[in-house]
Amino acid sequence: MEIKSHVSLKEFNTFGINAFAKAYSNISTLQQLSEVLSYYHNEEIFLLGGGSNMLLLNDVDRPVIHVNLKGKEIQEQGNHEVHITAMAGENWHDFVMYCIDNHWAGIENMALIPGNIGTAPIQNIGAYGVELKDTFVSCTVMDIKTREVKTLTLEECQFGYRDSIFKNEALGKYVITSVTFKLTDVSTTDNYQLKTSYGAIQEELENLNLELSIKTVAQAVINIRSSKLPDPKVLGNSGSFFKNPIIEKGYYEDLIRMHPDVPHYPVNDLQVKVPAGWLIDQCGFKGTRRGDAGVHDKQALVLVNHGNATGQDLIALAQEIQSTVKNRYGINIETEVNLIQN
Ligand code: EPU
Repeated sequence: MEIKSHVSLKEFNTFGINAFAKAYSNISTLQQLSEVLSYYHNEEIFLLGGGSNMLLLNDVDRPVIHVNLKGKEIQEQGNHEVHITAMAGENWHDFVMYCIDNHWAGIENMALIPGNIGTAPIQNIGAYGVELKDTFVSCTVMDIKTREVKTLTLEECQFGYRDSIFKNEALGKYVITSVTFKLTDVSTTDNYQLKTSYGAIQEELENLNLELSIKTVAQAVINIRSSKLPDPKVLGNSGSFFKNPIIEKGYYEDLIRMHPDVPHYPVNDLQVKVPAGWLIDQCGFKGTRRGDAGVHDKQALVLVNHGNATGQDLIALAQEIQSTVKNRYGINIETEVNLIQN
């Protein structure tokens, strides 16, 4: 296990922020992971995965442990189902495409979500009507203090909208080392329902005019995402910067009296979800730039780094957006990305 000092993290975060790690280790085996955790047992560490859901506000003083565990393994196959485990350092989108190539269905609507397998459960990634939890069986984790490896089940992970145990009571307790999914083997069954009702999928499928399959659904999602969301390799970003706020129905009813066109999605009998992208767009921020920190011109929910923005530049813009939305609509929008102080 090698520890490097003063390493730029620019290549390792999709926002492309040029913050530095005081100490950095790249970990590719469980043995190395255990060693590095033992070496730093008295210190607070910083775990880095795909770097796709964080904003580095400053240089990182904590030792950075970059989890690059690789590998995929079929656990069980039969009965029109496959249980497959992927290691934490596998790229999410590559895994989605690998499953599609093998005719395994269930995660095709989540094509092109940036990040790695090991960070996907933390915020229960989701898109186009499907969330990670829908095909999740379990994950293995290493306890940071004891270095014991254990398995957490679906129930134990307590998934919610962009939420899980890893953001709450288990925050800072574990390194997620692998995730196991339960997928449908569509080469052996017709009994699988494609999910095409969400957003623009249906329309894009009609445009594509191809036979319906998990492959064409993924292609539709890829086309829609590419048209709205910037490619981090071209323009630094972290996907949705804010969560869609959940508000009380009573408040929503007051709100539509003043702003009759506020869109909403039902959550339950008492609450509705309002798209933060719409609120930000209505406040006139789409395409705004403050130096190199900006709001994407095709989707107001996404903040972008036009080149040399710092974490501080981006957070200042985010705070300006939050207070404008609060003043105009009385709604607090919370950040979806993790803000890393140091
Ligand atoms: N809208 C605007 N202006 C904008 C952006 C959105 O008016 O600039 C309106 C849209 O017209 C639509 C509504 O807001 O009526 C919702 O927009 P969209 O369907 O694009 O989805 P979203 O709510 O903005 C969520 C997820 C995305 C996910 C899409 C599709 C969150 C925070 N974001 O975005 O997830 O891809 O739905 O399922 O839940 C991510 O988490 O990084 C991410 C990209």
